[in-house]
Amino acid sequence: MPEIPETMDAQVLREHGDPDVFEAATLNVPEVDANEVLVEVAATSVNPVDTKIRSGFASDLCPDSPAVLHGDLAGEVVQVGDGVDEFAVGDEVYGCPGGIAGTTGALAEYAAADAATLAHKPESLTMREAAALPLVSITAWDGLVTRADVSPGESVLVHGGTGGVGHIGVQLASLEGGVVHATASTDEKRALAEDLGADHAFDYRRDVEEYVAAYTDGEGFEVVFDTVGAGADNLGNDFAAAGVKGRVVTTVSRGEADLDPVHSKGLSVDTVFMLLPLIHDDHAGRLRHGEILDRVATLVDQGDVVPHLDDTDYGLEEVNEAHRRLESGDHVGKIAIRVKD
Ligand SMILES: NC(=O)c1ccc[n+]([C@@H]2O[C@H](COP(=O)([O-])OP(=O)(O)OC[C@H]3O[C@@H](n4cnc5c(N)ncnc54)[C@H](OP(=O)(O)O)[C@@H]3O)[C@@H](O)[C@H]2O)c1
Repeated sequence: MPEIPETMDAQVLREHGDPDVFEAATLNVPEVDANEVLVEVAATSVNPVDTKIRSGFASDLCPDSPAVLHGDLAGEVVQVGDGVDEFAVGDEVYGCPGGIAGTTGALAEYAAADAATLAHKPESLTMREAAALPLVSITAWDGLVTRADVSPGESVLVHGGTGGVGHIGVQLASLEGGVVHATASTDEKRALAEDLGADHAFDYRRDVEEYVAAYTDGEGFEVVFDTVGAGADNLGNDFAAAGVKGRVVTTVSRGEADLDPVHSKGLSVDTVFMLLPLIHDDHAGRLRHGEILDRVATLVDQGDVVPHLDDTDYGLEEVNEAHRRLESGDHVGKIAIRVKD
């Protein structure tokens, strides 16, 4: 049995603000409740929700101070709570069990995790690569497989085709047989989107009518998956790009948009909010997350899905730089953070 220390290194938040509000702290290693496992965290990754909690934009989701943020983790099980049968000490796991109010996060050497939210880590990936996947692959799965239910031959537009969610979305939509169109801002990012399986990649700053004409003969896309996020007010572009009876799925529907095209085209509009099972202590929803991650691990080990890591290498004490990088928008794919060297 691995020896579990009483205390651990962590990066914590005692107030909201810019990325430099993170501070090093020594905390007690979390206690493991029934149905939980203790994970020795090897790596985590940054998601926009982490930067939104840190800045105060999503302060309602912040764990109690000193707050340990970050949901995504990959690591090794070092202790198993009562009622856990699926995992044993020594198993390598990945998942997004917390980092929000009521849970412990992954910016620490150990995290207590609801076993329902975890899956065995894809064998072919490093810990950093595995930690890049959970939140974004559950979101992309919910958006394109569950909600949009992409069918072979359907035209799919993925906005943000090389972002965290989008780069997995491109791959899942392609695996479902969709004819995938991805948007990205630079030649480098568009080339990556095509490498990941997009049939076409183009700049999202092009006129919507013009690319709808170019790629769908003016008919509009059958599925639009919008991973752009708050502030971009992209829903109007989604509605304009969708065809009659199109399905629009977004990861952020906070914003304003004219619903006229939703009516005139008979669009369906759906929102993914993957944190809901964590926020509402929804056991069935958490189990579903674990199941999706099991299926993603199989796809990864078959070579059908690959995480793309941003070309950066941060340790736990550089979490401020990792947040700065995400907020710059210059990153490509996912930003991973080593917790254990
Ligand atoms: N509701 C949920 O469950 C859920 C889950 C995950 C994420 N989210 C939210 O979804 C958003 C994206 O998350 P992420 O991890 O994918 O972030 P990310 O890695 O920062 O990716 C954002 C993407 O948006 C693209 N983009 C920016 N402006 C755009 C525009 N005007 N039109 C089209 N694309 C544009 C970027 O493309 P370029 O890099 O080429 O500029 C980039 O690919 C965030 O707001 C996040 O909070 C929600």
